[in-house]
Amino acid sequence: MKRSRILAAGIAVSMMTMALAPQAAEVERGAVLTTSCFACHSIDTTGNMPNLVGYPRDLLVSQMQAFKDGSRPGTIMNRLAKGYSDEEIVLIADHFATIQ
Ligand code: HEC
Repeated sequence: MKRSRILAAGIAVSMMTMALAPQAAEVERGAVLTTSCFACHSIDTTGNMPNLVGYPRDLLVSQMQAFKDGSRPGTIMNRLAKGYSDEEIVLIADHFATIQ
């Protein structure tokens, strides 16, 4: 009896871990994808380069999509945005919106 309860608890824990694992991997992927953005968008920006830390999620997605489809002109971002899938843009936006 006791043994089966321990086994059940073990199975429950491993199921929870399996459910959490992809989520953690996605968070990690978002963080990795944003590292290249910091080359230009630094966190202590004083000039014209917009700071992306804490940037609103939906605004970042819409601006990246606008650069990507050409509806927003740019010098660099319109070319750079084409290199990211829609899914990656959402991961990037999620990451920037949650860091401070
Ligand atoms: C090589 C430099 C460079 C890199 C790398 C870069 N950006 Fe930019 N970003 C710019 C410039 C320059 C602008 C101004 C628009 C333009 O001229 O393309 C800009 C503008 C933006 C804007 C519009 C901000 C606003 O409020 O108007 C967003 C959003 C943005 N970048 C997101 C990103 C993301 C996300 C990444 C990483 C995936 C990234 N940028 C990487 C140079 C860069």
